[in-house]
Formats: sequence, structure tokens, C-alpha cells
Amino acid sequence: MNKITIAIDGFSSTGKSTVAKQLAKHLGYIYVDTGAMYRAVTYYAMQHNFISASHFDIEGLVSELHKIEISFVFNEEVGFAEVYLNAENVEKQIRTLEVSGFVSQIATIPEVRYQLVKQQQKMGENKGVVMDGRDIGTVVFPYAELKIFMTASAETRAQRRYDELIKRGDEVSFKDVLHNVQERDYIDSNRKDSPLVKASDAIEIDNSNLSLEEQFDKILQLVNNALENN
Ligand code: DC
Repeated sequence: MNKITIAIDGFSSTGKSTVAKQLAKHLGYIYVDTGAMYRAVTYYAMQHNFISASHFDIEGLVSELHKIEISFVFNEEVGFAEVYLNAENVEKQIRTLEVSGFVSQIATIPEVRYQLVKQQQKMGENKGVVMDGRDIGTVVFPYAELKIFMTASAETRAQRRYDELIKRGDEVSFKDVLHNVQERDYIDSNRKDSPLVKASDAIEIDNSNLSLEEQFDKILQLVNNALENN
């Protein structure tokens, strides 16, 4: 059967990655979490003192971009590919609220975007890929056979993120998580380079009131339609 490219874009914490992972597993496709790539660059920037609460050294970070190697390695135990930064598994480190607080700023840097987009296009060059992010249907794969744009209210998304962080033992307040979600929405939608916008041919799914199962079934139906029309 022909393989297609599936682009899933949307605001932060809309559950894109959960459904994208499920879908990739079901179809036997590769899954790429592009947010994890921006997070890995952010983690590098924090570790090397290019970004902190008081300063942001864009030039310094850009001059070291060639030293940053990001890869995904499938982990049988968890059932998905984990992100590695220069051979170190940083899957846990990149999910903290601190990284979430800086990542949107890092994602505004055109040189960072250029490098990561190139790598993402390479990873999906043979199709058979489910990729989630903010600019997949608009910039990375404007010719993707299926584009989905996920939305949900900021409160619903913050609650999901809060539950996730609490479950893994982080001490956070709901107020801070909601603030982070709203701030990232604003920066992601208003940056100059590749802002988060719905591609004109993307199908919008508001999952505020959908169960994971309902959401998955709905998307699978769209995938089957796209495969038939391919
Ligand atoms: O999906 P996420 O929350 O892990 O993404 C983290 C940040 O990375 C998000 O605030 C915006 C940015 N991002 C981006 O600009 N482009 C992408 N394709 C993916 C993520």
C-alpha cells in the first residue's frame, strides 16, 4: 500500500503527540515529535548558559548549532522513539517546566528553525511518517497528504499538562502551567518565522470534549480517506 505523510499541528498540550504516537504504531509509520527537537536545543542552550531568566545570547547559541546533534532512538520498553542530544538520552530533561518556559523563545530563532526543518524533511523523505509540531503542514511538508490541526481550550490543555507533571512527581502549580500554556500560545502564534497557523487545507479537530478513543477513530477515518485518494 502507498505510504503517506501525516502532519499534525496545533497549540501546545493539545495531545498531538499521544494520538500521533498511537497512529504511527497502528500504521507502522515513523513518528517524529518535532517539539522534542526544539526542546533539546533549548536544553543545550540552558546547559551552556546561552539562555537564563536574565539573558539570551542568540549569537552564541547560533555559533554552536553545528555542535548540536539530535536523534531519535526507539525504546522497546516505552514503545516510542526517545530523543537524544549528542548521544545523551534527554527525554526526561526536556519535559520540565523550566525548558517549557524557554523553548518558545528558542523556536523564534530562524537559524535554529532552518536546521531543524532540514533534518525533519530528511526524516520524512520516504513518507510513511507521522510528524507533529507547529509548522509541519505549512513549512516542513506543505504537500502532506493529510494535515490535521488540533485545538482545545487553554484550560483543558493546562489541566492535561498539569496532571502529567504531577504524575511524574514535579512540584508545579496549575496557575503556573496555565500561564506557560498561554504564553507559549502567544509566542508561537506571533513569531515572525513560521508562526503557528492552520494550513488552509488542514482539517481542524477540537478535542476538548473527545476521549482519546474517539479522537483516534476520527483521525483514522481521515487517514483511510487520504490513503484511498492517494
Ligand atoms: O510540542 P511542544 O510543546 O513540545 O513544543 C515545544 C515548543 O517548540 C513550542 O512552544 C513551539 C516550538 N515548536 C515549534 O516552534 N515548531 C515545531 N514544529 C514544534 C515545536
